[in-house]
Amino acid sequence: MSFIDLCHTRRSVRTFEDRPVEQEKIDLILEAGRVSPTAANKQPQVIYVLRSVEAMDKAREVVGRMMHNATTALLVCYDSNESWKGENFGEPDYDGGEVDAAIVTTSMMMEATDLGVGTLWVRGFNAPKASEVFELPDHIHPVCFLVLGYPTQAVLAKPHTPRKELEETVSVL
Ligand SMILES: Cc1cc2nc3c(=O)[nH]c(=O)nc-3n(C[C@H](O)[C@H](O)[C@H](O)COP(=O)(O)O)c2cc1C
Repeated sequence: MSFIDLCHTRRSVRTFEDRPVEQEKIDLILEAGRVSPTAANKQPQVIYVLRSVEAMDKAREVVGRMMHNATTALLVCYDSNESWKGENFGEPDYDGGEVDAAIVTTSMMMEATDLGVGTLWVRGFNAPKASEVFELPDHIHPVCFLVLGYPTQAVLAKPHTPRKELEETVSVL
């Protein structure tokens, strides 16, 4: 499938089949994140693979029903001791960590899509609570959960959520 077709195919998945995502696929998804670009190649991402019942229970404690019936999720964070930080051309205290983590997540999301694995990007949670539940040190900042699982046929059959026309979001200057 071409990349543009992959982009059109991807959708948020909120109902999953019971079968788990194979470890080989999780490895490929993580590999796509590993080779992602990050500011100054600092690679500040810190990714927790949540597969055990205990880890997923903790995830549900943080995000509640948005974990849906998934059995696997990635908690994507960045390490502010590693991220590119500092004065950025007049912008004091810039920290590239969150953008880097989002790029890494996007790569993993698209690799998952290519493998037929459905994803849901979840940011609707309380980050301090996530830090508390997962006992993260202060320099590890949760950015999102990437929920993973095989989509049901009903999800795949649904039309894609509408998008704005290009003219509404793009201007040629
Ligand atoms: C940064 C970000 C945060 C999101 N947070 C949530 C969330 O907390 N809960 C949820 O159900 N979906 C969440 N989503 C999914 C979006 O709602 C979804 O991508 C959007 O509505 C477009 O639908 P689609 O992914 O099916 O194309 C998030 C997506 C992004 C990129």
